Amino acid sequence: MRLARGVPAIAVFCSGEGTNLQAILDATRAGRLRARVALVVSDQPDAKALLRAKRAGVETRCYINPREYPTREAFERALIALCEYEKVRLVCLAGFMRMLSPVFVRRYRHRILNIHPALLPAFPGAHPIRDALQWGVKVTGVTVHLVDEAMDHGPIVLQEALAIRPGETATSLLARLHTIEHRLYAQAIRLMLERRTRIVGRTVTIR
Ligand code: GAR
Repeated sequence: MRLARGVPAIAVFCSGEGTNLQAILDATRAGRLRARVALVVSDQPDAKALLRAKRAGVETRCYINPREYPTREAFERALIALCEYEKVRLVCLAGFMRMLSPVFVRRYRHRILNIHPALLPAFPGAHPIRDALQWGVKVTGVTVHLVDEAMDHGPIVLQEALAIRPGETATSLLARLHTIEHRLYAQAIRLMLERRTRIVGRTVTIR
């Protein structure tokens, strides 16, 4: 189904399950997010995210194998070409387990969001849930932030905290964090697309 013209196009980059992609797709379909997922990219051939995109009727969805490109920059130039072709306003990383180089970040500066299952700057990296539990923190949460050249580092758009329960396991914590993520990501995307965010240095003010 083609949506009305003027609906902003977004891209979602994933590597795995794609539950955040699904939440974004659901929010657009329900009218809670005025956006069109114009492009879904996965760097993994068997990512369930690609299946979710297909089921939702996303026309441009693709597996791109980074190893088929001579350099990371060449791979990212292919991503940029796809985003430009689809006239993407905002790139949303949703479990995309790959760092973007300055080539991509410069082209889409302040127009790339990432979601991370911890209260950054605590527990950056690939295992934030395990790391938070091992550290014994009493509170963790979800961060949606703009992507810059460093890992899990850019200005924070939204955060939401969650208290760790006695006996909490990685599985139970993941499920509770996902519930927050699926709401928070659509909210952050909406704020960005409605141009209600003002970015000065590391500080994002919301109007
Ligand atoms: C999400 O929990 C997201 O926050 C995390 O990967 C998961 C992807 O789940 N991202 C990171 O850890 C980034 N450093 P999903 O594929 O079901 O959306």
